[in-house]
Amino acid sequence: MSEALLAVQSALRCPHCAASIKIDPGVAKCDAGHSFDIARQGYVNFLTNQTFIKNADSAAMVGARQKMHARPFFQHLAQQIAQVCESLCRVISVPVIVEPGGGTGFYAHAATQVASSSVAISFDISIHAAKVCARQSNRIAAVVSDVWHPWPIGENSADIVLSVFSPRNFAETERVLKSGGTLIVVAPKDHHLVELRSQFNALSIQHDKSETISALLGNFTNTEQFVHQSTELLDGQAMYETLLSGPNGHHLKPKDMEAILQSKPLDVTHSVSISIWKLNIDARASE
Ligand SMILES: C[S@@+](CC[C@H](N)C(=O)[O-])C[C@H]1O[C@@H](n2cnc3c(N)ncnc32)[C@H](O)[C@@H]1O
Ligand SMILES: [Zn+2]
Repeated sequence: MSEALLAVQSALRCPHCAASIKIDPGVAKCDAGHSFDIARQGYVNFLTNQTFIKNADSAAMVGARQKMHARPFFQHLAQQIAQVCESLCRVISVPVIVEPGGGTGFYAHAATQVASSSVAISFDISIHAAKVCARQSNRIAAVVSDVWHPWPIGENSADIVLSVFSPRNFAETERVLKSGGTLIVVAPKDHHLVELRSQFNALSIQHDKSETISALLGNFTNTEQFVHQSTELLDGQAMYETLLSGPNGHHLKPKDMEAILQSKPLDVTHSVSISIWKLNIDARASE
């Protein structure tokens, strides 16, 4: 029995028919009879056969990201996100955190550690990520699901949605958030990893101008925005892990990997913006 899935059972919905879900040993079933195996690692796969799997992280990419998360920049980032969650969760008895494109659930894990009564649903299209996520904690339900399809989560279920370096579906974010709930968006700044990208001719990052995000969040109010930035000296191995864990991971060829691994250490800028958005209390009334 997955304790983590059981803890968020009331928030889960069937990906076929949106009915409520019941978690039993080894299986998640909806009221209409659709059933989904719970893997022995503890995650449930809610992908439907309409899903075209694209950009799912491979096992190697997931492994590289786990190593990258151990570095100071990402540890501090996780602590900052966790502190924001903790202060939002103080007045809620069992806060529910949803992390779309959550990978290994690294940031949800940091948040649930600090916001001690919270539970989380971290979902990702990668089964490799879900396997790692399911082992992370018994307070994070690991789910395989597509950000671009209706999320397998009921409306008005989440206190916080954590969108960290992941594909963003704001319509679904708004649907699952409780009125007055909070969206935390972490996005790379233009110069994030700039030295790595110029040295290795890597893919440029998606430019996440705050105006673009804000235009898509008409029913939200931006309550806070800050930048987390530092420079880290990375050796070849760390540079390789960094590139493998992002969008470049889908394109690296063996000869590129060899060149990166052999390179001299480089000072690399890490810079991300963290913005916090509250869903307006009257948002649903205006629909
Ligand atoms: C750059 S990673 C970030 C992962 C995690 N948020 C983190 O920062 O550690 C992007 C994640 O999005 C996932 N992803 C890509 N397309 C997706 C989709 N359509 N639905 C769900 N997850 C998706 C990938 O598998 C990957 O784990
Ligand atoms: Zn169903």
